[in-house]
Formats: sequence, structure tokens, C-alpha cells
Amino acid sequence: MPKIIAVTSGKGGTGKSTVCAGLGYTLAKQGHRTLIIELDFGLRCLDIMLGMGGEVNSDLSDVISGKKSALDAITQVKMASNLSILCAPKNPFSTVTVEQIIDICRSVKKYFEFIIIDTGAGINSHVFDIVAQANLILILTTPDPVCIRDANMMSDEFYNRGNKSQRLIINKVTNKIIGSSLVSNLDEIIDTIGVQLIGVIPEDFSLAVSMGKGQAIPTNSDSLRAFDAISKRLQGDYIPLTIKNA
Ligand SMILES: Nc1ncnc2c1ncn2[C@@H]1O[C@H](COP(=O)(O)OP(=O)(O)OP(=O)(O)O)[C@@H](O)[C@H]1O
Ligand SMILES: [Mg+2]
Repeated sequence: MPKIIAVTSGKGGTGKSTVCAGLGYTLAKQGHRTLIIELDFGLRCLDIMLGMGGEVNSDLSDVISGKKSALDAITQVKMASNLSILCAPKNPFSTVTVEQIIDICRSVKKYFEFIIIDTGAGINSHVFDIVAQANLILILTTPDPVCIRDANMMSDEFYNRGNKSQRLIINKVTNKIIGSSLVSNLDEIIDTIGVQLIGVIPEDFSLAVSMGKGQAIPTNSDSLRAFDAISKRLQGDYIPLTIKNA
């Protein structure tokens, strides 16, 4: 089976979809066949972020209804040939079960090394069950105290459900916020959430622009360096955490 990585957070808007797109992009560029499954029902966005706005003819609803096989419903991303996406249904009220996602993963397993699952804001109980089954859960937070508290609650819930395979990503980090009256240092965030850190992604306007326009992340950007480093850590490489490749 491919490695199934779920990206989740308590609070909405922390950057889950951006991180899924960024990690999918760098894993693919590093030569790994990667699929992103979007579980943000009714609020798909990865088609735009990955430059395929309007060019996605099938989505998860076609697989759930039995109209198409998972392989036929997947769209290949143009900007990274090893990257594919299975978009969320347009209907906000559709649901998918753990069994259906496991079936999908099984049916495409020989084509992908990594399957990344993007969860939406306020995930429903089905998505909770799916995330709990992942080989690795990436808990995403920003340095915002509310977000940190919510990330801690999510992480505890997955621990309680038996999934201890979790890593923390701190997104939208700026020098200004770390050391401010809100957060004194990164260790404070890590200790509060109680999950081992796998990477820090700086707040990067060029990342927001490239995702908004569906363009490749700029090669010289700090965020691309961060995604690159996290992708390598996901493969077990030792990449020290420095300011440059946070
Ligand atoms: N590191 C970053 N630097 C700058 N902007 C970022 C960064 N990460 C995310 N953003 C911006 O933050 C906004 C929210 O990001 P995104 O849609 O990925 O969050 P989300 O957690 O998927 O939201 P939702 O909970 O609604 O699914 C977007 O405008 C995105 O461009
Ligand atoms: Mg999202």
C-alpha cells in the first residue's frame, strides 16, 4: 500500500490545502508518484491551486456513486507529472466512508507511493474516521493561540482513537510573531500540542499568490524550501531545521 498521509487541523484556514498542494508538488518533483484526495465536500480548491481550474471532469462523487473507477476519476496535474488529484464532490452534503476510501486506495495502490488526504474545515465524523486510519497524520497549526489549542484537541482525539503516528507542521510563521507576546518560541507551540515537529513553513506571500493563480511555487521561495525539506523528512531523510529551509 502507498503511504497514506492525512493533513488536518482544528481551526479552518490554517493552510491545509496549501500544505497538501505544496507537499504533493515537492514529493512529485522528487520523483514520487503522489495522489491528493480532497475531502473538503462542496468546497474544492485544489483544482485551482494546482492550475487545473475548470479542467477537472470527474471527482470523488463519481467514484462513490459507482459511475467511474477511482483511476478514471483522477486528474493528472500538468505542472508536476507525478502528481494527481481526486477532487472533492461539488455537493456539500455528500459523504464518504472509511471503507470507500480504503477501497479507493487499494484500487490505485500500484500507481502511487504517497496518498495525501486533505480535510476541510470542521471535518465530519466520516472524515474523522478516515484520518484516524492514515499511516501518518500531519497536524497543522499556525502560531495563533486559538489554532494551537484546537490542534491540541484534534491531536488528542486521534491519540484516543489509537493513532499515535502524528507529526506537527507549524505554518504561516513570521519572525515578528515568534518572540512576541503571543508566542515566545516554537518549543512552546510544540509542547502545548504534544506532537513531534516535522517542519515549519514561513508566511510567504509568493506562496499565496502562486496557489491563488494556480502557478508553480517560485523556485527561490522560502516556502518551497520548507516543503522540499518536509517531503524529504517524510521519506526518513535527516534534514536539519534551519531558518533558510525551515
Ligand atoms: N505559508 C503561507 N504563507 C502565506 N499564505 C498562506 C500560507 N499558507 C496558507 N496561506 C494562505 O492562507 C489561506 C488559507 O489557506 P488554505 O485554503 O490552504 O487553508 P485551509 O486550512 O485549507 O482552509 P479550510 O479550512 O477552509 O479548508 C489562503 O489564502 C492561502 O493562500
Ligand atoms: Mg482547505
